[in-house]
Amino acid sequence: MMEFKHVSVLLQECIDGLAINCDGIYVDATMGGAGHSRKICEKLSENGMFIGVDRDEEAFAVATGRLADTCCQKQFIRSDFRNIGDYVTTPVDGILADLGVSSYQLDNKDRGFSYREDAPLDMRMDQTSPFSAKTVVNTYSVQQLTQIISTYGEEKFALSIAKNIVKQREEKEIETTGELIEIIRRSMPAKSLREKHPAKRTFQAIRIEVNGELESLKQGLKSFFDLLKPGGRMCIITFHSLEDRIVKEYFKSLVNVCTCPPEFPVCVCGKKPLAKIITRKPILPSPDELEQNPRSKSAKLRIIEKL
Ligand SMILES: C[S@@+](CC[C@H](N)C(=O)[O-])C[C@H]1O[C@@H](n2cnc3c(N)ncnc32)[C@H](O)[C@@H]1O
Repeated sequence: MMEFKHVSVLLQECIDGLAINCDGIYVDATMGGAGHSRKICEKLSENGMFIGVDRDEEAFAVATGRLADTCCQKQFIRSDFRNIGDYVTTPVDGILADLGVSSYQLDNKDRGFSYREDAPLDMRMDQTSPFSAKTVVNTYSVQQLTQIISTYGEEKFALSIAKNIVKQREEKEIETTGELIEIIRRSMPAKSLREKHPAKRTFQAIRIEVNGELESLKQGLKSFFDLLKPGGRMCIITFHSLEDRIVKEYFKSLVNVCTCPPEFPVCVCGKKPLAKIITRKPILPSPDELEQNPRSKSAKLRIIEKL
């Protein structure tokens, strides 16, 4: 296995945001290379408890190994974080989720996440799942492909890409990222090929679809909030606008619970906010972090506290 490299994003900001109590219970719902997890474990005493989740087999193996020498109690769960309520029932003091894929997943050619490599079409975070990028690309209709590429990729040329995918596979199944990139290139006007990598948005869209990322996030946020103790904190790092919108809207829904009509001068429904927003505006990487780790560019951290 190639070395598992991933530089943690907004690391100190997450640790500060969690306001860790050394005897508390903390969840890292996306352990990855265990960068954040390790910092959390180092803050915990022998009475403290760390719960680590990842659905990727390789990340799970690496993270559990990297945390073995820390002194707190530990529980590891290899699953989609949306199912956390099936494994954890004790209320917890804090939860972190650093969404998306790790640099290891992106850089490992065999995983098929990268548009910079020619590899089998895969993009599964959970390698035990039977549903891969190859399934999406070779079985979805033009309408389904257009829908996901335009919604999850915000790609202007979604229809043209979708039509060309379907046309191409009538001749032969599409098997590699290289073949897909070629189709995407052919589906765009020359001018657009000079902007960002032409396949970036389509790859993002297919990855989101393969891993059901937005559905996991919506359900995960609810499960996380249900698990938090009053006073517990939730820190979520997102990497694109679709994810950030879901987090922002969910946090708002916990604060703006009043159901009185807007014309009422005072609240009569008596519903009290369930949470306090700690970050009015999301926390972004500092110029130093951006310089050291360009992959942190689109990261946004939002934090709430349960009341
Ligand atoms: C950005 S990386 C986390 C990196 C980590 N914070 C670190 O410092 O090394 C995201 C990780 O979350 C995992 N992941 C993403 N979505 C998940 C989900 N719904 N359930 C469980 N794990 C998930 C991925 O497999 C990946 O390992």
